Parts: sequence; C-alpha cells; structure tokens
Amino acid sequence: MRGIILAGGNGTRLKPLSIVGSKQLAPVYDKPMIYYPLSLLMLAGISEILIITRPTELEVFRRLLGDGARLGMSIGYAAQDEPRGIADAFRVGADHIRGEDNALILGDNLFHGANLPSLLRRSADRLNGCVLFGHQVADPQRFGVAEVDERGRLVAIEEKPARPRSNLAIPGLYMFDGGVVDVAKRLTPSARGELEITDVLRAYLDEGRADLMWLGRGVTWLDTGTHESLLEAGMFVRDVQHRQGVRIGCVEEIAMHMGFIGVDDCYRLGEEMASSPYGKYVMNCARSFHCLPASARFLDES
Ligand code: DAU
Repeated sequence: MRGIILAGGNGTRLKPLSIVGSKQLAPVYDKPMIYYPLSLLMLAGISEILIITRPTELEVFRRLLGDGARLGMSIGYAAQDEPRGIADAFRVGADHIRGEDNALILGDNLFHGANLPSLLRRSADRLNGCVLFGHQVADPQRFGVAEVDERGRLVAIEEKPARPRSNLAIPGLYMFDGGVVDVAKRLTPSARGELEITDVLRAYLDEGRADLMWLGRGVTWLDTGTHESLLEAGMFVRDVQHRQGVRIGCVEEIAMHMGFIGVDDCYRLGEEMASSPYGKYVMNCARSFHCLPASARFLDES
C-alpha cells in the first residue's frame, strides 16, 4: 500500500502562525506536526509516501525528511498550487498511486491508541474499494459525518452538516483502491468550491464498496487545525509522554520497530540529536530494543 500525506492549504484558521510557514510543521509539543500522520502511515506498514504541500513549502519539508532513506523509506514530494480540496490529492498524487491501493492522511490529524497498528493492518487487508473510519465526537458538525443504520452499516455521508444525523465523525484518514484517481478526476467542485473527500467516499458507498471501521474508545483522534486544538494536542502529547515515558510519533523508533531500519541505524539517528531529550530517547529505544517484551513492540500489539 502507498501513502499520501496532504499537507497544503492556507492554514487560514491558524494565522498569523501559518503566514510564513506550513502549519503542518508547527510544533506539537516536541516534534513537527507532520511526524504524527507520518508515523501513523508507518505503523500501517507503509514505507512509500508522497507529501503534497504548497509550492513554497516543498523545500522545507524536503529539508526535514529528505528522500526518506534515513528511515528506510521512500518519501517523495508534490506541489498543490491551489487548495482545490482534499480529493485533489488523488489528482496531484496520481503518478505516485500508480493504480495501487493507497492510504491518504491529512497532515493535521493526530491519532494515538494501543491497537491502532493492528486495526490499520486489518483495514488494509480487507480493502475492497475504500475504508473510512468513524470516531464519536461531541461536535460532529465540524467534520464529515457518517450515518449508520440500526445494524451499524454505513448508509450516508455528509460534509459538515448543520444538523448531523449522528455523532460519528469521519477522521482525515482513508484507504482506497487504485480506482480512486478516476473517481477524483470525475468530481466537480462543491458549493464551497472544493473537491470534497466526502464526494469520493459517497461514490464508493453508492457502489456498495465503502467499509466503515470504528475507532473505539481506546483511540484518541485530534485534529490540530485551530489555535485551541493545536495547544490541546501539544498538551495531550506532553501528558501521555510524561506519564508513560514513551513518545508518540517518534518516527525513528517506529522505523526500527517496523523493520525499515536496523537498531544501529536508529541509534545513529538519535546520536545526531543527542543533546535533545528526543535524541536521547531515540538512542535509548535502540539500546533497549532487544530487551523489550514482545507486548511492548508496535508490531505485536493487537
Ligand atoms: O479532520 C477531519 C476532517 O477533515 C474531515 O472530517 C472532513 O470530512 C474533511 O473535509 C476535513 O475537514 P477540514 O475542515 O478539517 O478540512 P480542511 O479544509 O481544514 O483541510 C484539512 C487539511 O488538509 C489541512 O491540513 C489542510 C489540508 N488541505 C486542505 C485542502 C482543502 C490541503 O492540503 N489542500 C487542500 O486543498
């Protein structure tokens, strides 16, 4: 499966923070925001990733992550010259997708939960059209919303409805088969002038090929698109890390656990940042890797 991180847009809700820099590089406690969606794709076993962003930001992302080789991955970059909508990612990313199964994640979405890796791998395995995820929220009108029947089957999808018919929001993480590029090419802009992801999902739903996976209570989903939610996400990461002594979204640690890089590679990456607590943590992850019980490894979570 191939991955796309959509990290463009004008970040209007985060101004002035986002005037000269990409919001997806804003700090969420101890790392740039993009580390979180990147680590999620890695946990799904995806090592070939395209980052789509504004033309002016391409070089900054490239400076941060390079071609991905240091993490044992392949990371490419593509520019979205105008924020034409989330579904535009499939048009911009058509050459990367190459007709294969793919996962799209929004660059401002953060997920955390013990059983996520296995849930993601299960979702990828049963992909037959598309998989979208559902998460209960208190304010569904801010999101894409899924309506389900009494047996929990997906029956309708709406984008930011004024009167939501459920409290099941659809987070910014989706899996599709390679046909999504053609679906996206056929779309026309919505009333607000965007190529809507919900229209893509609806096209699959109409064909009976959209699978809704519930992210249960054990999963935390945060989007970081406003000043308030950005701060909340930072505090969430700090609290979990402080309490548990493990880091969320540590790409070097995950690359090692997923077998993308070796233990020595991971240690060296940490050593390059040895004067920061993050670097020390990465070195320590490498040092203690072989002593970890199976249950503490990402791959063995269930
Ligand atoms: O966060 C989940 C929600 O994301 C979903 O529930 C909604 O269905 C989906 O439409 C989206 O809603 P948002 O209002 O959060 O979308 P927003 O326009 O803020 O864009 C989300 C991210 O994608 C943001 O980081 C910017 C980026 N983006 C957005 C557009 C429209 C791009 O890179 N290019 C674009 O053209």
